[in-house]
Amino acid sequence: MSTKPLSVLYVSSEVYPFAKTGGLADVSYSLSLAIRDLGHDIRVMLPKYGNISERKNRIHEINRLRDIMIPVGDIYEPATVKSSSINNPRTKVQAYVTTNFNFFDAKKGLYSDPTTGKNYNNDERFIFFDRTVIQTCLLLGWFPDIIHCNGWQTGLVPALVRTVYAEEFAKTKVVFSIHNFSEQGFFPLDSLEKTGIPEDAYPNMTHDKKMNFTKAGIAYADRVTTVSPTYAQEILKDKTIGGGLHTSLKGFDVHGILNGIDLYGWMPKSDPFIAKQYDAATWQSGKPANKKKLLEKFGLTEKAGTPVIGVVSRLSESKGTPLLIEALPQILAENVQVVLLGDGDIKMKKDIEKIAAKFKKNFSVNLGFDDELAHLIEAGTDMFLMPSLHEPCGLNQMYSMMYGSVPIARATGGLADTVTEFDAKKSPDGTGFVFKKYEAAEFLAAVKRALKVYGDTEMWGEVVKNGMSRDFSWAKSARHYEEVYRSLMM
Ligand code: GLC
Repeated sequence: MSTKPLSVLYVSSEVYPFAKTGGLADVSYSLSLAIRDLGHDIRVMLPKYGNISERKNRIHEINRLRDIMIPVGDIYEPATVKSSSINNPRTKVQAYVTTNFNFFDAKKGLYSDPTTGKNYNNDERFIFFDRTVIQTCLLLGWFPDIIHCNGWQTGLVPALVRTVYAEEFAKTKVVFSIHNFSEQGFFPLDSLEKTGIPEDAYPNMTHDKKMNFTKAGIAYADRVTTVSPTYAQEILKDKTIGGGLHTSLKGFDVHGILNGIDLYGWMPKSDPFIAKQYDAATWQSGKPANKKKLLEKFGLTEKAGTPVIGVVSRLSESKGTPLLIEALPQILAENVQVVLLGDGDIKMKKDIEKIAAKFKKNFSVNLGFDDELAHLIEAGTDMFLMPSLHEPCGLNQMYSMMYGSVPIARATGGLADTVTEFDAKKSPDGTGFVFKKYEAAEFLAAVKRALKVYGDTEMWGEVVKNGMSRDFSWAKSARHYEEVYRSLMM
């Protein structure tokens, strides 16, 4: 295989540190940097939402990319694509940031209004963004070897590349990565006309009598990937995850590539957001200071010998919030303290608040999103709960293991690929506690197994160390993406 560096445009609706509602942002950031480290010319592109500060993020204008008129249905909206970068201490990647007042700047949330929870006109917003991606390449005269699209929001890019702009992008290959097969971006059929894509392509963009961005991405991509090997199998087999869209994956050799994590940002040895830094040799003296600060922040009193359990999650069906709500009263009846950070479903938030009101002494919540606090939760907790119904990959269980907070997780998707059951006799190299059935009783049993091991300091030290010594870096997975890119160049 050739070793010539490749040019790659990485397109995503979320890129850390600009915009984040979930793991997609972390992956867009850390994978791009890892691909750059392999020597490729990778650039990322995202929309500039209203909550992104241009000054703080050093976003500058580029001469050629001002006031590009983008058609969305009958109207034209101006896109000005600006320049910035993402960095870690070693590496830097060019970022193109799409600005437009009506669709993005005037809106504070990424996809929905933060106060009402109501979705924005996301069909038009992402038709606009996807078209801007194409126009940017045309105006720059840059036709990358690979356009790597991530999430439903980018699903029209493959469709545009293979229909309206087929000639221009004849040599470009397109990879479409599914980060969550339950979120497909579907809209009324009328939205199809706003895309400017010819009618004969509509069947490839329609599922279940709705326009479907994910289907468009799959139909026109040269390669489809998803974010863990187990999830790749699950979305092919389990019809319920994708609402029947699994049929469109038939014939595709869907690659399940496990996400890595950013070891500059998520390493307890150098984490600036935690109270005391530590590593696998010093966790016993390092974690208590973090626990103290964490409990202070959550208004809980420190209790020697009582484990602190953390939850950081989007509150939703797929993350298993209903199961958590069901099991919490029983978990809280044990000798534990639980802290929860999470935003999402409004009804679920209310249910959680009710439980918090009842268990004031050992349960405290912060119903919002706070990246810095998420770091402190990993550092200050002994255990971490992830009872997901579906989990394409999941990053928090990996952060937890790195921080010596032992995950208690349901064996699904990426959780099944990263967390293994600890048993002093049968599986002494296990890194957590795992349950299979999506049932409160099984979840509770896993928590109880964890509590039992926690009672034996030496044994607990083994589980913690097992997790802390795992390698979750991008090294292997970035190579896997590189192989996918290269295989398309032949
Ligand atoms: C989505 C998935 C999560 C995955 C992340 C990054 O947020 O729900 O499991 O880790 O994307 O790929």
